[in-house]
Amino acid sequence: MNPKLTLILLLLLALSGCKEDSRVKIIKMGHAQVTAHPVHNAMVFLAERLEEKSNGRIKVKVYPNQQLGTERELIELLQIGSVGMTKVSAASLEAFSPEISVFGIPFLFRDDAHTNQVLNGEIGTELLLSCQKFWLRGLCFYDAGKRSFYTKTKPVETPADLAGLKVRVQESKMAINMVRAMGGSPTPVAYGELYTALQQGIVDAAENNPPSFYNSRHYEVCKFYSIDEHTMVPDVVLVSTKVWEELNPQEQEWLQEAADESAVFQAQLWKESVEESMREVQKAGVIVSYPSKDAFREQVQSIYDQVEAENPVLARLIERIQNTRE
Ligand code: GCU
Repeated sequence: MNPKLTLILLLLLALSGCKEDSRVKIIKMGHAQVTAHPVHNAMVFLAERLEEKSNGRIKVKVYPNQQLGTERELIELLQIGSVGMTKVSAASLEAFSPEISVFGIPFLFRDDAHTNQVLNGEIGTELLLSCQKFWLRGLCFYDAGKRSFYTKTKPVETPADLAGLKVRVQESKMAINMVRAMGGSPTPVAYGELYTALQQGIVDAAENNPPSFYNSRHYEVCKFYSIDEHTMVPDVVLVSTKVWEELNPQEQEWLQEAADESAVFQAQLWKESVEESMREVQKAGVIVSYPSKDAFREQVQSIYDQVEAENPVLARLIERIQNTRE
């Protein structure tokens, strides 16, 4: 074969999110978390289940630690089909699928049961499929618990304590608006760069769930964890529609089943991980406090008012979520 043509073919193969190696399909799955994190183990479980179901015909290779890119980059790579699958925070997806931004609305969910009801019901399915028009197919949600502030120098007991603090937020407009409404200075930083940003004082504070606070080792730098539980932003497992469409109906069914089973597995890992993380960070000297949520809730009322005035689609979604009963 013409050497130039061979080179182009090799390049195209290397760029593809799903490689067909004689009879075996290999799907690359990238994510931003460390390997000790429960979501990584859930993705490995997904890969094992799919390999078993397909008799070794479909393999998912999981690349952790932003090896293939930040969450935002991974989503873009899925859109062009050069990475096949990912797991990102719904906050990172917000810029690609506007309805998803509803998860960034602070104090929207009453408790875990309410969140599960929404995620596993009609609204959850609608939101997963809302990504399809952006070349992304949502397969399932993973539990990402509740997000709270952690800081380097003082606890956040009331919103006034956020004044003058540079607070790292995810690359999400809703997260920026929330921190601003509470009185802090929001600074978007990619997750993988946050440890250094905290250490070097580029930001003074951040917010996350206990397993991410612990596994990222941010607790080595931030010694105050204030459990205000302002948001419950789930993780989303996505497949590129380009890769999805290359699978036959039977293979699509196996992939969906493997993802659903991994979500059940992840939910169990998650509970244990939250407890372990809270224990370990306190052992390492982190001071955990439980501020009253009322003042934080009041501060973000302006976000609800703004959505009501400017975004009828989101306002309707908020109302449906609020009306979802266990
Ligand atoms: C959570 C979420 C990650 C995300 C991270 C962040 O840990 O599970 O997907 O990267 O928050 O704050 O960026």
